[in-house]
Amino acid sequence: MNIPIRNTRDAYGLIAQFFHWLIVVGITLQYIWAWRADETDSIRLEYQLVVQHKSIGMTVLLLAVLRIAWRLFNRPPALPDGMSGWQRFAAAFTHWALYGLILCMPISGWIYSSAAGYGAEFYGLLDIPDLVGTSEGLEDVFHDVHELLGTALLVVAGVHVAAALQHHFIKKDDVLKRMLPKWN
Ligand code: HEM
Ligand code: HEM
Repeated sequence: MNIPIRNTRDAYGLIAQFFHWLIVVGITLQYIWAWRADETDSIRLEYQLVVQHKSIGMTVLLLAVLRIAWRLFNRPPALPDGMSGWQRFAAAFTHWALYGLILCMPISGWIYSSAAGYGAEFYGLLDIPDLVGTSEGLEDVFHDVHELLGTALLVVAGVHVAAALQHHFIKKDDVLKRMLPKWN
């Protein structure tokens, strides 16, 4: 496998790809865990899933902070020449919206969970400090914010995936390939 650590002019480097795909896996688990917690009739399983959802979510937050820091010092590869002005704007807009969402999604969950007053642990290893005191008002607001951002993330990620597939299968350019490891 031949892949530089930093981004190059033509492709994303190892670190950017590592953060991108690990966060995709983390976020996918978050939806599966939240939906399973919602569906189950077992209070015990629901409790376990929510506890795990908090740990995985805090991991996504940590990865998102590191990823954005890395991004600020590491320019992404230039977009292909054939893209129009509005397509470039749409790409930049969705990318920054996604960065915003992968930060705000876990932070809203953290505030919601703190306001609800149940406490949270990071994989049973350490306590996650509360961001705010117990408050029914904040709990209600941040429950709704967390849910709304969850829907927004699904929509923006859906557009993003559709754009990546359109580049690969219709325009047949290198946009998807440059976010994937090169095997030769
Ligand atoms: C990227 C990270 C995260 C994603 C994508 C995510 C996504 C979701 C989704 C889709 C729901 C279901 C919302 C609904 O329909 O009511 C949910 C619920 C919830 N989330 Fe998150 N979440 C994330 C991080 C966090 C974090 C860090 C915490 C707390 C520390 C948290 C705490 C909760 C709680 C307590 C619920 C309610 C679960 C229940 O009682 O059924 N989330 N989350
Ligand atoms: C939760 C889901 C996802 C999130 C939050 C996400 C986030 C991001 C972000 C923020 C960037 C911009 C990188 C930068 O230039 O700074 C990016 C780039 C990219 N993503 Fe995703 N992504 C997700 C899922 C996917 C999936 C499933 C695919 C593949 C089908 C994909 C393919 C790509 C590609 C090809 C690029 C590079 C675009 C370019 O070169 O301009 N992403 N992603």
